[in-house]
Amino acid sequence: MNFQLVKGTHDIINKEARYYQQIESLFISLAELYGYNEFRTPIIEYTELFKRDKNDSSDMVRKQMYEFNDLGGRSLTLRPEGTASVARAIVNNKLYVENDFPIKAYYIGPVFRYERPKAGTYRQFLQFGIENIGIDNPYSDVETIILSFRALKMLGFNNLKLKINCLGDQESRDNYKKALVKHFTPLIDKMCPDCKERLKLNPLRIIDCKVPADQELVKHAPKMGEYLSKASKDRFAKTIQLLKDVGIPYEIDEGIVRGLDYYSHIVYEYEYISKSGLNVGALGGGGHYDNLVKEIGGPQLAGVGFAFGIERIYSLLKDEGLLPKLNDGFDFMVMPVGEKCISRAFIVADFLRMLGYKAEAIIENKSFKSMFHKAEKRGTAYAVLIGENELKNNEVIVKDMKTQKQTNVKNKDLKEYVNSLFGHDCHCHDGECHCEEHKHGKK
Ligand code: HAM
Repeated sequence: MNFQLVKGTHDIINKEARYYQQIESLFISLAELYGYNEFRTPIIEYTELFKRDKNDSSDMVRKQMYEFNDLGGRSLTLRPEGTASVARAIVNNKLYVENDFPIKAYYIGPVFRYERPKAGTYRQFLQFGIENIGIDNPYSDVETIILSFRALKMLGFNNLKLKINCLGDQESRDNYKKALVKHFTPLIDKMCPDCKERLKLNPLRIIDCKVPADQELVKHAPKMGEYLSKASKDRFAKTIQLLKDVGIPYEIDEGIVRGLDYYSHIVYEYEYISKSGLNVGALGGGGHYDNLVKEIGGPQLAGVGFAFGIERIYSLLKDEGLLPKLNDGFDFMVMPVGEKCISRAFIVADFLRMLGYKAEAIIENKSFKSMFHKAEKRGTAYAVLIGENELKNNEVIVKDMKTQKQTNVKNKDLKEYVNSLFGHDCHCHDGECHCEEHKHGKK
């Protein structure tokens, strides 16, 4: 029996999970500021949702999907991304009928791709993404860039590089693909087996090939910019102007074509190499799509969105020393001095939790030394000591772990005392109390 982790997966536990929570909650709160609502879609979908076109040229769809038959013989796939699922949810739930656009969705959760694991590349990883659907203009496109850029900046990434490209409208892409076929056909024997196939399915993908010999051929290939229609050029110019207006630094990179087939107009990615040289690939990427909702059975609605890879963001923050300070210590560690005091310690810890404090009771008979050792290890602010004397006198001893100052506190005064320690003074006795318990007139 093999109880190892499945290759390409990883546990996120303890402190690391707290960092992930912090990163995720920053993304969520920012998305909510921009008016996005959460979409929680299933992790399994019918395979056809992702394999909509048998000529799909993306590696993700052709080679990396976790696709299987369930016991009823249906072909299901573990979602390899969130965008198609959001589009399906919009169509299935007919969210378009009220004509109230844009529909703004954010999502967070695991996605699955059968890729070769390496630094920053997993087979199960977390994506946070947004989709803005129903308004087809550069303002929507740029709003997604602003949101993603601000999110990365707020996490502390400076020197961010936004790479942006324009794939144009259908007409522009068709003309460009023809030019690429013309350019690469005589070179086919020098190309890698994947690119030979890409030439047939979607020559745009050759631009993205990572094989050095093919990259050399790509250098001399026609450039997308030369094949953009007037409308696409104008739209891209407006996009760039908006980026300048909001002060987002960008670099136009005609090598960015993105790994999925649904894109049109703008595509973008964030790259970041840490000071120590860690490069985990793109932190996130996205772009505009014209036909996805229609392909999934809905009306013709354009959309735009991006997704971040949370593992990549975490590992770069860690490498750069940018992880936020965790506030994960205990407010109180309640320490029974002797077997007889354990029950009281157990109850006091619960009382403190109900007041909103993070508290732990030691529920074994332990020496002072080991109890204080534990309290220190857990980053505790105050120890609460209960011995037989305290039991008898209906009190506890509260000890400040930093200053070592000890105070005897009667049980009946404990609430007021601990609130005062954390600046949550209750002025019940002044008759003008606004504390949580009393603000509604309860006394
Ligand atoms: P994607 O570029 O395939 O786009 O993935 C988005 C991000 O997920 C990547 O930039 C990267 O940070 C992370 N990522 C991708 N593969 C892996 C992996 N194997 N391990 C760890 N992280 C990974 C999409 O998925 C599109 N749905 C984005 C989008 C939304 N476009 C429009 N709307």
